[in-house]
Amino acid sequence: MFDEAAFIKKSVDELKKLEGKAVIAVSGGVDSTVVAKIGSMALGKNLIAVYVDTGLMRIGESLRVSKIFEKMDLKFLKVDAKEEFLKELKGVSNPEKKRKIIGRLFIKIFERIAEKEGAKYLLQGTIAPDWIESGGGLRDTIKSHHNVGGLPLNIKLKIIEPLRDLYKDEVRKLARFLNLKVAESQPFPGPGLAVRIIGEVTEERLDIIRKACNIVEEEIDKEVKKGMEKPWQYFAVLLPVKSVGIHGDARAYGYTIAIRSVDSIDAMTASFTKLPYSLLEKISIRITDEIKNVNRVVYDITNKPPATIEWE
Ligand code: XMP
Repeated sequence: MFDEAAFIKKSVDELKKLEGKAVIAVSGGVDSTVVAKIGSMALGKNLIAVYVDTGLMRIGESLRVSKIFEKMDLKFLKVDAKEEFLKELKGVSNPEKKRKIIGRLFIKIFERIAEKEGAKYLLQGTIAPDWIESGGGLRDTIKSHHNVGGLPLNIKLKIIEPLRDLYKDEVRKLARFLNLKVAESQPFPGPGLAVRIIGEVTEERLDIIRKACNIVEEEIDKEVKKGMEKPWQYFAVLLPVKSVGIHGDARAYGYTIAIRSVDSIDAMTASFTKLPYSLLEKISIRITDEIKNVNRVVYDITNKPPATIEWE
């Protein structure tokens, strides 16, 4: 049985041994929020929580994240790095390259802040599936999770990962124990919407995927409120495939959105959610009605394995 109180006490005691300041990258997801909370219990204002607005976030995300951390006993900094990320991602379509660029930029920003603040440590919300799937040793690299495989080898900060051996269900238990609202929120990848746009990340594509993810979340959340079981994770993916359609009387040639919804326990394996057709239809109609340049919606019916949850 996982003992939340004992885990928190042990982690707080360990973190209290750190000398001086630490920075933590927070995304508003359950993993980094739990580490920030535990970190704040140990270090108080010596912990600097940094939220990087990469421009790769969902609708309303930055405001939601700010609200969580402005209330905690730590120092909270929000960095607007939208332009920097978009510039570096320009022309890049290889998924691993995208992940590495994002990881590198994150670290560059943290190092900059850590230096300014005089911090020596970087706390991270890495959990077991992140490093297992990022490879190393005898393991194959499935994908470089941005908080693991995307890190440069010459990183100056000492990395501390209190949740390294835990799985998501255990992290959620910690979040509930700590009374954090994010306990039930669905996972969102570190590289954000960049891995939900297949191919190059552009402003136009970001705008489309942001709206599409929002529609998928809104419609599924509505059904969950009415009693449907909450899937583990649900979102949209923008495909670089264009196809022919009709808008009014005119020929259209637009993008394709894939809907992805999966059920899982630890994200190591997952099965696609058997969403009702009526709900899929509602989502499809809203996406094609509300988002310009999208005229086709498909549903991803693959399990993990052989697919992964995110497409990149
Ligand atoms: P995959 O796509 O590998 O995802 O089946 C497993 C779970 O991890 C999330 N994910 C990430 N989380 N940094 C993260 O913190 C990342 O780079 C990353 N990539 C994927 C994914 O959303 C799923 O919940």
